[in-house]
Amino acid sequence: MRSFQLPSGTRLPVFGIGTWRMGESARQRRHELEAVRCALDLGYPLIDTAEMYGEGVAEEIVGKALAGRRRRPFLVSKVYPHNATRGGTVAACERSLKRMGIERIDLYLLHWRGGVRLAETFEAFLRLREAGKIGDFGVSNFDLGDMEEAARLDKGLTASNQVLYCLSRRGPEFDLLPWMRQRSMPLMAYSPLDQGRLLGKSALKKLAAEVGCTPAQLALAWLLTQPGVVTIPKSSTRERVKENLGALEVTLSRDILAELDRAFPRPATKQSLAML
Ligand SMILES: NC(=O)c1ccc[n+]([C@@H]2O[C@H](COP(=O)([O-])OP(=O)(O)OC[C@H]3O[C@@H](n4cnc5c(N)ncnc54)[C@H](OP(=O)(O)O)[C@@H]3O)[C@@H](O)[C@H]2O)c1
Repeated sequence: MRSFQLPSGTRLPVFGIGTWRMGESARQRRHELEAVRCALDLGYPLIDTAEMYGEGVAEEIVGKALAGRRRRPFLVSKVYPHNATRGGTVAACERSLKRMGIERIDLYLLHWRGGVRLAETFEAFLRLREAGKIGDFGVSNFDLGDMEEAARLDKGLTASNQVLYCLSRRGPEFDLLPWMRQRSMPLMAYSPLDQGRLLGKSALKKLAAEVGCTPAQLALAWLLTQPGVVTIPKSSTRERVKENLGALEVTLSRDILAELDRAFPRPATKQSLAML
């Protein structure tokens, strides 16, 4: 699978499973654990999680799914903005490591910008990096202005920015994505199916039938054709976990890409970064 080199030298795979909404309901937990286990069995090379998801329970599910495996995937987690102080970031990271039963988070992100000074959060990230508790660090939900500020503070080490980006929300293509590409910084596209809303669009359904794949696979395959983009669809259903991985096998012709552009136009002007 394609991957991007990060500042530490490790590689970020282009595809993984998301875990938002996991861990929120005790009744769903077994189902969610099975879905993450299934992703690992199928060879998903990346898991995206956060201390926020299920208030730590999603990370516990990830930990259970990882237990006893020889190979582990690339792991991404995120610190809450209100924990992102110098000491708070380190403590939050240690709690996340413990919940997942691992020694190192490969990519640790600031979940969104809050009230703590960015310089303070980056100082903590650098400390964690030096201690080997994280491999790389980055941000999430940062629009261009925030990224420019980050670039002045981060010693060139911000590895990625995770943002809302999918066929029906192409705003980042106007300025954020080109800025990141210029710096060889991969963009992690979250909610690639717009949390399922995209899948009901008739244009997507029609084009998926033409390609011979499912609407979800088409939406994911489109993201994977965008240079410098990683994506992390979430599913708690084993069949869909498998279906989504199938997007990697889908090839899109120029004609299909042009039709997708017609149905889901590129942004013609700056749009403020949307956030879910
Ligand atoms: N950094 C941030 O602020 C941020 C924000 C949002 C998301 N994220 C990350 O990005 C990941 C993905 O985003 P997301 O969870 O918001 O939305 P998403 O991946 O776009 O969509 C997930 C929804 O789509 C359904 N689904 C998945 N595959 C499907 C398929 N093949 N056919 C039909 N329905 C399908 C899932 O239902 P089932 O589970 O029932 O299958 C779930 O309801 C998150 O889990 C999280 O890790 C990060």
